[in-house]
Amino acid sequence: MTYARIEIAPSILACNFSRLGEEVRAVEQGGADVIHVDVMDGHFVPNISIGIPVVQSLSKATRLPLDVHLMIDRPEKYIEEFVRAGASRVLIHEEATVHLDRALSMIREAGAQAGAAINPATPITMLTEVLQKVDTVLVMSVNPGFGGQKFIPGSFEKIRQLHQWRARYNGAFRIEVDGGVDAENAAELAQAGANTFVAGTSIFHTSDPAAATRQLRKLATEAVSQKV
Ligand code: DX5
Ligand code: ZN
Repeated sequence: MTYARIEIAPSILACNFSRLGEEVRAVEQGGADVIHVDVMDGHFVPNISIGIPVVQSLSKATRLPLDVHLMIDRPEKYIEEFVRAGASRVLIHEEATVHLDRALSMIREAGAQAGAAINPATPITMLTEVLQKVDTVLVMSVNPGFGGQKFIPGSFEKIRQLHQWRARYNGAFRIEVDGGVDAENAAELAQAGANTFVAGTSIFHTSDPAAATRQLRKLATEAVSQKV
């Protein structure tokens, strides 16, 4: 089995937003690979977060790519604007559009990497027809809408199954896991086949976000190098 490079993606949802620039610099120093940005519309999820102006400011404030997770209904309406604002990867939910295939094409045509996300209650079989046109599959390991929730253990099996399917596609997509990711489950997630680790609380709600970023990478990387 092939394993893509491990990526650590701190989620700024858990930041102190009045100090956003400093928080991002701290995780940059800790070796973060991408910054995960959670966009919520109050319809697709029962919470409202941030949008295009924050993505624009962030793209000027960091050299890291922005991983923009759209938890919004009908994401296709806003794809181009988010890419123009600086998103390197746009993740849209299978549950949020009836035109997933078209919406994923729109992301690539706009010049970004395309990601398909699924909620905990959605089976991964909902993605079989689009696996060849995604750069990333995002497995939500909590119900989207809030940081600080408990990891749902059924996510392991989804990741394992996706990892097997990926072998058929020459490892062409990464597997991203989002929700309740921490030092307790990072190694097992890496062994299951996860490549991108989104973490909010376990990075920013600590006294040293840079160290927490380094620690997650160490746990994930060592787990995979032991296995291979
Ligand atoms: C939840 C968001 C996550 C969230 C993760 O809807 O998609 O990215 O920030 O937060 P933690 O790591 O605290 O579970
Ligand atoms: Zn997210």
